Amino acid sequence: MRDAAPKTIYLSDYTPYPWTIESVDLHFTLDPHATRVRSVIRFAPNPAYVEDPDAPLPTMFLHGEKVKLIWAEIEGIPVDATITDEGLTTAVPSGPFTWEAEVEIDPANNTALEGLYMSNGMYCTQCEAEGFRKITYYPDRPDVMSVFTVTIEGPHPVLLSNGNPVTSSKHLAKWHDPWPKPAYLLALVAGELISHHNTFTTKSGRKVDLNLYVRPGDEGKCAFGMEALKASMKWDEEVYGREYDLDLFNIVAVDDFNMGAMENKGLNIFNSSAVLASPETSTDMNFERIEAIIAHEYFHNWTGNRITCRDWFQLCLKEGLTVYRDSQFTSDMRSAPVKRISDVIDLRGRQFAEDQGPLAHPVRPESFQEINNFYTATVYEKGAEVIGMLKTLVGDDAYYKAVELYFTRHDGQACTIEDWLAVFEETTGRDLTQFKRWYSQAGTPRLSVEESFELDTLTLTFTQHTPPSAATPNPEPQVIPIALGLIYPDGTEALETRILEMTKAEQSFRFTGLEDQPVASILRGFSAPVVLTHNLSDADRAHLLTHDTDPFNRWEAGNMLGRNAMLAMIREGTAPDPAFLQATKAIATDETLDPAFRDLMIGWPGPSELATVLHEAGEVPDPEQLFEVSEEMRNAMAETFADAAPEIYARHNVTEPYQPNAEQSGKRALTNVMLAFISRHSGTATAQKQFDNADNMTQQISALSQIVRHGDGAPALAAFYDQWKDDRLVMDKWFGLQVSCSKPEEAAATAQRLTGHPDFNHKNPNRFRAVFGALAAYHDAFHHKNGAAYTLLADWLIILDPLNPQTTARMCSAFQTWKRYDTDRQAKILAEVDRILATPNLSRDTTEMLTRIKGA
Ligand code: TRP
Ligand code: ZN
Repeated sequence: MRDAAPKTIYLSDYTPYPWTIESVDLHFTLDPHATRVRSVIRFAPNPAYVEDPDAPLPTMFLHGEKVKLIWAEIEGIPVDATITDEGLTTAVPSGPFTWEAEVEIDPANNTALEGLYMSNGMYCTQCEAEGFRKITYYPDRPDVMSVFTVTIEGPHPVLLSNGNPVTSSKHLAKWHDPWPKPAYLLALVAGELISHHNTFTTKSGRKVDLNLYVRPGDEGKCAFGMEALKASMKWDEEVYGREYDLDLFNIVAVDDFNMGAMENKGLNIFNSSAVLASPETSTDMNFERIEAIIAHEYFHNWTGNRITCRDWFQLCLKEGLTVYRDSQFTSDMRSAPVKRISDVIDLRGRQFAEDQGPLAHPVRPESFQEINNFYTATVYEKGAEVIGMLKTLVGDDAYYKAVELYFTRHDGQACTIEDWLAVFEETTGRDLTQFKRWYSQAGTPRLSVEESFELDTLTLTFTQHTPPSAATPNPEPQVIPIALGLIYPDGTEALETRILEMTKAEQSFRFTGLEDQPVASILRGFSAPVVLTHNLSDADRAHLLTHDTDPFNRWEAGNMLGRNAMLAMIREGTAPDPAFLQATKAIATDETLDPAFRDLMIGWPGPSELATVLHEAGEVPDPEQLFEVSEEMRNAMAETFADAAPEIYARHNVTEPYQPNAEQSGKRALTNVMLAFISRHSGTATAQKQFDNADNMTQQISALSQIVRHGDGAPALAAFYDQWKDDRLVMDKWFGLQVSCSKPEEAAATAQRLTGHPDFNHKNPNRFRAVFGALAAYHDAFHHKNGAAYTLLADWLIILDPLNPQTTARMCSAFQTWKRYDTDRQAKILAEVDRILATPNLSRDTTEMLTRIKGA
């Protein structure tokens, strides 16, 4: 299959780089197929490299991939180098020396979108994680930090790099970034771009120029992103005391981008879908996501850039913390309960699935073949949960003290999780040895609780157990912060939220002096990323649903009622539980509650969450049955809401000018759920009216999806196409919607038809994901017994892999749940996995993913 054995990198093999770099000068002469990069790098022996002080320094290795060496000199003397696909090795002097070289690269043919590449005639870079080595020869590792000066020569009106501008004339710009940084934070942009400008004055009074650079035509989509940036800058000053540290902060929007965005120092580069927004073209969800991603990348300036990672195993050091910070920001900007509930839904949907399957890995992995495959829900989202638990355990004051110490102690350094935990140990005097298992063990702990009540005493006995995985065959007990409340039968609180600190496999906690037997509200706010088994009666859940003072557990009680109703339908063939239907209606019509919260409360686990639950219980999910049962529940809900839906719709339909704020978007979310019920129950007249009158994308697209699902979709889809065919981001929605609104047995055919559309372009990750991300996310369609979706996805992954390994490999995760299903589906999936693996010259990225998915 492969000729060379894949190389595995281990955390335990880390050694410091033998040199430090005092400065780097780069000179780019841009040309689509023959860009020249000249580099001047000042090396000095690294005093931290202590292998053998008397031995001559080893030969020097510099990473370099797909770069053509034109010439190289050390101290002015031509270099005699050995060059492989991975880099260059050469003898070097024992003291400090200057390396100078020139290479040629081909950005126009760089479809991998890593290194220097072109997008719509514009040059841009993506260097994280290991993309800088595709630009020039360099020690491309995050613990080598240096000061960069970048000169760009090119015929473009806008020439950008990190830091502050030094000189600029027509066709030449020189940039200097005073802050030492690893090469993965380097960025360069050149093109015909328009700037949306603003300023921000920091708390110490420094004025910062802010620019959002976009392609001509996108100027009208900048205002929201700019406001989000300013809000982020202010928030980081107020909450973490972090001020921005350059005179300039630039963001550039790029159409071709593998991920959401990138935190390059002073020059963030964004997928246009993660920054461009207007009411007409973006949904409320888009606005919220954009606000969060802008905050995320901005927050990286301290957590990631000023303090970076020693090696890529420490990725969660910057990502977990930065996700945690951006979730705090969103909670402050919008509704904290809604944010927490949405985050948990996302965590359970993506991270728990990852932890349950063959891709399970610790928050800090110990080995990898391709680091790009570890930008995962586990590193990001579970990594953020771990920070949240730490904060819960030590308390807010100690948390901010410890983080302050982290910033002062480690500014300018490349750090490890050990450094991070040490500031908490020193601040609080706690021993975090056991807590560290959250970073080293894969798998989601299962937590169960038994209750007993005698006289005035409640005893809660907790048991924890983490299923073994290939990554962690022998998991040990974790430190689990369990936020607990107790609610009396009359609905009053017997106990304000208290944190129980569980450290053992089994542990009891007693509560005395109680007046009556309370209902326990366990894991409030989802205080730990565990699967909780708490055998409450439906009556007790209904009690929590009504009386819990913790909004998360209130939602959870309803969610569990919905889950039980669905499981009864699946396992016993019962009808949708009338108690659940009525409880949902009661919440949805409760005008004292926030519409956004009501929207979240009208829900029940979807097919993929149910598949996870069934697999967990040792049962084999049947996707067809899950679809039928989901349809049955939707129909019953639509029937239950027959009178209420039009009323709620009319009361909360937003007619004021569009604002992307939490209040309006909560109302639109609620009315759009009602629109779904109305359309299902009484046809698409209301949806058609909303579609025709909509002045914003949230209402337009939700109406369109109802028309396509329940009416005659063709005319509306055609009208939508005509209106938006020139807007790339809206067209992504048009592509995706047709897949997700198809019937399960037709979705693969729809996707296949769409790949033949003139506007389909598999080289654009957003468009590729619009179609195939929608297909993979549509459980009943992706796992339809005809196997058509498996085959279609495999066909296209084989096409995409040689062009863009990173996006191909990420999409492979669609296959990660194969073990859940019946033997027929398993065989079908594995046949496709093997077919992809048998492709000649398959990328390291995709090979690693599929090999891990198959299992040993
Ligand atoms: N560091 C980026 C973030 O989380 C993620 C990212 C952007 C990335 N582009 C990438 C990771 C390419 C790997 C490869 O904000
Ligand atoms: Zn990040």
